[in-house]
Amino acid sequence: MTDAWWKSAVVYQIYPRSFADSDGDGMGDLRGIIQHLDHLAGLGVDVLWLSPIYPSPQDDNGYDISDYQDVDPLFGSLEIFDELLAAVHERGMKLVMDLVVNHSSDEHPWFVESRGSVSAAKRDWYWWEPAREGMEPGTPGAEPNNWGSVFGGPAWEFDPGTGEYYLHLFSRKQPDLNWENPAVRSAVHEMMRWWLDRGVDGFRMDVINFISKVPGLPDGPVPAGSAYGDGSASFLNGPRIHEFLHEMYEQVVKGREALLTVGEMPGVTVEQAKLYTDPDREEVDMVFQFDHVWADRGPDPWALQRLKLTDLKAIFGRWQAGLADLGWNSLYWNNHDQPRVVSRYGDDGEFRVESAKMLGAVLHLHRGTPYIYQGEEIGMTNYPFGGIGDFRDIEALGQYAQAVEEGRDPEDVLTVLRARGRDNARTPMQWDTSPHAGFTTGTPWLPANPRYPEINAALATKDPDSVYHWYRRLIELRHTEPAVVEGDFTMLLPHDEQLYAFTRRLGPTELLVIGNFSGTPARAELPDPAAWSSAELVLNNTAQPPADWVLGPWQAVVYRREVTA
Ligand code: GLC
Repeated sequence: MTDAWWKSAVVYQIYPRSFADSDGDGMGDLRGIIQHLDHLAGLGVDVLWLSPIYPSPQDDNGYDISDYQDVDPLFGSLEIFDELLAAVHERGMKLVMDLVVNHSSDEHPWFVESRGSVSAAKRDWYWWEPAREGMEPGTPGAEPNNWGSVFGGPAWEFDPGTGEYYLHLFSRKQPDLNWENPAVRSAVHEMMRWWLDRGVDGFRMDVINFISKVPGLPDGPVPAGSAYGDGSASFLNGPRIHEFLHEMYEQVVKGREALLTVGEMPGVTVEQAKLYTDPDREEVDMVFQFDHVWADRGPDPWALQRLKLTDLKAIFGRWQAGLADLGWNSLYWNNHDQPRVVSRYGDDGEFRVESAKMLGAVLHLHRGTPYIYQGEEIGMTNYPFGGIGDFRDIEALGQYAQAVEEGRDPEDVLTVLRARGRDNARTPMQWDTSPHAGFTTGTPWLPANPRYPEINAALATKDPDSVYHWYRRLIELRHTEPAVVEGDFTMLLPHDEQLYAFTRRLGPTELLVIGNFSGTPARAELPDPAAWSSAELVLNNTAQPPADWVLGPWQAVVYRREVTA
């Protein structure tokens, strides 16, 4: 295993289509990224992760790849990519690529060949099945099993050319690759080595715990009110997943220095994550789990549920404890699939700045590698979406269509999409006060958030009290204070519904972090307040330090002490 350099690193995710447009076509591109690298270097991040830039029909904004070894002309070219990589390395940062290999695009030559005939050489590179026994192929209900797709509708598409169906856990333009086939696996390994040889520093692996499926693909249970079965028991953390990841490690990662691999793993448990990230097992360095971003999801997907802070603490506490001795956490609030955290778990009105800072501090001071999603560092907020016509995301559109077909009230569905929809994360990065937030001189593919005159990078970098400079200080603290990286984690006040508090301890150094997750003052009933009476106040997001341990609205404080006894 390579050294664990990423334990003290902070990663910044770029969603290229929404980051910066250099040529006025309304779509972000690689030159746009190059032009803004100093914003990122100034923040102090160590690694950039690029969402997919490969040639793609853009059915799912590039998570449907038709050529794994090139750059989509929308974003630039391989030459410009090499320029970007060199510019990133020159600034002492690393670059991690998105690896989307649970599925390809249906326009990938592999799939084009596969669908050509039942005897095509690449037929079994994908999951082809005949109609359900006794059913007429192509008729309603004749799909090989009852699974629904993540984006709404069935997980199977009928192909009239050969009279069979192919599996797509996501859109019909994202057919699932058949990892049972060793030729598929070695083609993926070869492609990954090609990028590493080009100089990239690792991979973020898209839904990588979906790649091993239970043979036979049995029907799943049908949730109440749903038209489709839930097949996840047959593809989440499937029977050969550890074998496939270890093989990938052996074939691709082994012997290369200073890489980062992170597996996106919806539905992963702490126990499974321990296996995935135990260095001796040689699989991945860390995983993205989802429990804390599903904490405000009730049993009914189309009814908004408020976060209970005690639930959030129970989740983080479980993950911190579970991976304390073996394995490693990743830490995130936001990415291109999540609504803006300040709108979700904070207050994007009166206390936008305070709550964005509080959320940043609480997250970054856990044990694990923090990820920042573009715009989070300036406290960007959700977009005021109106009707369904305002949404562009295939998930929002597909789920809306299915829910309405299942008889849901469209207004209820819209309420949830406005609060949780992925397009909230995908509006243009807000750079300055010029039209479209300085993202483009043309017409942006998704409009800029109307709050950009107040929330933008130009203002934030100039203001020493901004969210940006607070994030910069959090990153600096991780780089300079070993207790942030290696310290033991202890959750305090697990039953408090307003305050989030914990300590980190390494040798004699102990940090105390307290965040108020509410707009009303709250007193921290610490187990041993006297121990902290002369501690140094390292960070405070408001003008006044707490008096008698009463934190103001959305206040966050970090103390440090040296334990003498
Ligand atoms: C992952 C990506 C998401 C994409 C899906 C299918 O969850 O983060 O954006 O839609 O996989 O590739």
